[in-house]
Amino acid sequence: MNHQGAVVIIDYGSQYTQLIARRVREAGVYSEIHPCNVGIDAIRALAPGAVILSGGPASVGDADSPGLDPQLLSLGVPVLGVCYGMQLLGHALPGGQLAAATDREYGRAELTLTAGSLLWEGLDALAAHTVWMSHGDQVLRAPDGFTVTARTKSVAVAAMADEARRIYAVQFHPEVAHTEEGTRILHNFLFRVAGLKTGWSMASFVETQIAALREKIGGDGVVCALSGGVDSTVVAVMLGRAIGKRLHCIFVDNGVLRQGEGEEVASYLREHFDLNLKYVQASELFLSRLKGVTDPEQKRKIIGHTFIEVFDREAKSIPGVKYLAQGTLYPDVIESVSFKGPSAVIKSHHNVGGLPEKMNLALIEPLRELFKDEVRKVALELGMPDFVIWRHPFPGPGLAIRVLGEVTPERLTILRAADRIVTAELVAADWYRKVWQGFAVLLPLKTVGVMGDGRTYEHVIALRIVDSLDAMTADWSRVPAELLARISSRIINEVKGVNRVVMDISSKPPSTIEWE
Ligand code: XMP
Repeated sequence: MNHQGAVVIIDYGSQYTQLIARRVREAGVYSEIHPCNVGIDAIRALAPGAVILSGGPASVGDADSPGLDPQLLSLGVPVLGVCYGMQLLGHALPGGQLAAATDREYGRAELTLTAGSLLWEGLDALAAHTVWMSHGDQVLRAPDGFTVTARTKSVAVAAMADEARRIYAVQFHPEVAHTEEGTRILHNFLFRVAGLKTGWSMASFVETQIAALREKIGGDGVVCALSGGVDSTVVAVMLGRAIGKRLHCIFVDNGVLRQGEGEEVASYLREHFDLNLKYVQASELFLSRLKGVTDPEQKRKIIGHTFIEVFDREAKSIPGVKYLAQGTLYPDVIESVSFKGPSAVIKSHHNVGGLPEKMNLALIEPLRELFKDEVRKVALELGMPDFVIWRHPFPGPGLAIRVLGEVTPERLTILRAADRIVTAELVAADWYRKVWQGFAVLLPLKTVGVMGDGRTYEHVIALRIVDSLDAMTADWSRVPAELLARISSRIINEVKGVNRVVMDISSKPPSTIEWE
């Protein structure tokens, strides 16, 4: 792929590396992340327009910490070191000196500008600026040729610049929202220092990804596990555009889907995209294996294994398949803190773990650098309808982890009916898109109620409605009381077997979004 003028981000393992990439994308500039042990030739071949050295958890002085390849500084393009990236510059360049950390400084700090810099264009030179710090070591003395451009109370060299060589460094994290002028600082680097052009967009992402997929896959076949959610649907549509009928989508109905889930998306895809799509009805198999099981982890394992078994059998019947495509997103990928070049580990419950190994297929994950809201932008680019784009995330183990206790057809029917009301009322009140997820949970207990003249002893539904950006943290949504009242009265009146509705008002952490 030719992306002359791209920003190359060298990853030293910071939890914020993807956020830097995202900010650059938001500025309309293409960016690529490369592990810190990537060879200089690979970087040179990209003909980048600028290089950003990310933060990282290591201490520059440690024997096995990742070092700076000095050739990165002789590419003739501007370099910005962030946090660990700054410490690397302070350590590697002549005249610089580092102080090893006694403690890690973490949190907000007030930045005072001590010299003019292109990075500071548009910032009030006299004001204190709130920035987000997360570091151990710090630069004690700036290398030869550098000017100290900012300080904080506890860090004398909080930023430094060699304007002639276009090398800049900041100890704080401009990519984090808590750094108030962070976006302006990054934009100054991209546009004023590096002179990059804006214009990259999600449309270009779609185009380049499709071309890259076509090139990578060649004449081979790909299977894709379609779940009905926006992520896997986007992956299927992109692959469909890239390789047409050599993509084989498999939708497994596991018997614990929401009402209408699956059929809707399957018929939409069939109608609009002419994909090879196989709908596998396996409800009975899943439900028979879930019989009598109440332990959450057991449920997850049974569903996971059964899914692999069914999917594997279906996929094996298709000739010429070499790849498995998945809608893994960035928050599903935890960057490990390996100093040898960050490797990625997938949270086991967030994908069909074990499937690629079992099937001996190579993985294709075209969305693994994106956040959920970016995937929605891709879906919009691909011309998908609202009901696909805005569908709330739904866990792989489905309603099995929302029917607490044993999963039986009767209990699933109750939950489906309640869940449908939650969704319908959120949509009607214009709240569906404002929240991350909103759903019903069927509790494993009964309570006493009164209906007409009679005493009832029936099920309890809990409402879980949360706000979140990426599901890593979440808080319960402050939806209007009138909306809750409508949901509650409709569920109690319309869903047979329920006489009480309660609201979950816990945040994640320490709770999780799902109950099991
Ligand atoms: P928790 O409950 O861990 O959920 O706070 C975070 C997000 O992940 C979804 N989730 C899953 N998604 N397979 C999935 O694909 C799973 O096993 C799974 N478990 C939870 C959950 O709905 C929320 O959006």
